[in-house]
Amino acid sequence: MRIKKNVNLKGNNTFGIDVSAKLFCEISSLKDLEKLVDSTEFIKNEKLVLGGGSNILFTKNVNALVIKNNLTGISQENLNEDTVLVKAAAGEDWHKLVLYCIENNLCGMENLSLIPGSVGAAPMQNIGAYGVEIKDIFHSLEAYNLKKKTIEIFDNKQCNFGYRDSIFKNEAKNNYLILNVTFILSKKQVLNTSYGAIEQELQQMGVTNPTIKDVSDAVIAIRTSKLPNPKEIGNAGSFFKNPVIEIALLNELKEIYPTIVSYKLNANQVKLAAGWLIEQCGWKGKQIGNCGVHNKQALVLVNNGNANGQEIYNLSTEIIKSVQEKFKVTLEREVNII
Ligand code: EPU
Repeated sequence: MRIKKNVNLKGNNTFGIDVSAKLFCEISSLKDLEKLVDSTEFIKNEKLVLGGGSNILFTKNVNALVIKNNLTGISQENLNEDTVLVKAAAGEDWHKLVLYCIENNLCGMENLSLIPGSVGAAPMQNIGAYGVEIKDIFHSLEAYNLKKKTIEIFDNKQCNFGYRDSIFKNEAKNNYLILNVTFILSKKQVLNTSYGAIEQELQQMGVTNPTIKDVSDAVIAIRTSKLPNPKEIGNAGSFFKNPVIEIALLNELKEIYPTIVSYKLNANQVKLAAGWLIEQCGWKGKQIGNCGVHNKQALVLVNNGNANGQEIYNLSTEIIKSVQEKFKVTLEREVNII
């Protein structure tokens, strides 16, 4: 455990933003963390916990102690004949965990294949894709309370999961370092292929009776065709959330825009596809200076190499304004802005 000064964070955020942290420390064990919390640097500074850095936009240098969670390890335990608990340390790569589960024939995570980021970051924003959210397979997590210096357990209910949301983005923000997450998975094959794009992809693959691996392969193919690889083009996945609006507003909008894409949530509300709204405003594929809007998925903002965080933030503000003007709908950023 070493606390370093003025550390560049470019390699620690998938947007590839060139900023530095006043102080930076990597944690590889609970002992490291216990040493860190007793240090004067910890006591005297603001803290920022960093996982895979895949859902963050740095707009300035970080005047804080950045704690990089590098805890590793995956284990499993049979709960009963059909159900297995898989416990993964927070610093593990998310997709590596998904592959581990597929190799062990454990069902439940395959739709969440290839999502960039770490295991510890996944519950913070209740990651989701292709009809599955982490809350559907989440059992519990252990988190270190940075103020009380104690370990606490959160079950599914206590995490207060919502659409790309949890207690860790709200009242518990900045207060915890997630140590490990336990998932509840099935030995029986219960696949969720209802999402249109998965069905189409499986058909194209010529698969009629899919396995867990087939579904994962289909998801990987869809993601690769639409979403930029952060190792090649800096990005943080969907930059905005899909907005939830009242049905009355949808009906008004349908009069003018009959092809608007929406998903019914309940009797009064629908979710709109933000990518569609942004594309209709003419942003898809547009490049402004060093950043832009991805040409295959308008919900994703990209760094073309040398963008700073403020430029990307300003672009997102322009997008919010034009969607607001055209559709009377306010987009909310999904990415954490620092
Ligand atoms: N669409 C457009 N133009 C675009 C993009 C999308 O018209 O440029 C339309 C498509 O026609 C489609 C609809 O929008 O009918 C939905 O598009 P897509 O299936 O790509 O999903 P999304 O709603 O844009 C969400 C998640 C993604 C997740 C996918 C698949 C959010 C904010 N994003 O995107 O999650 O992978 O569904 O389930 O909910 C992420 O959170 O970082 C992320 C990538």
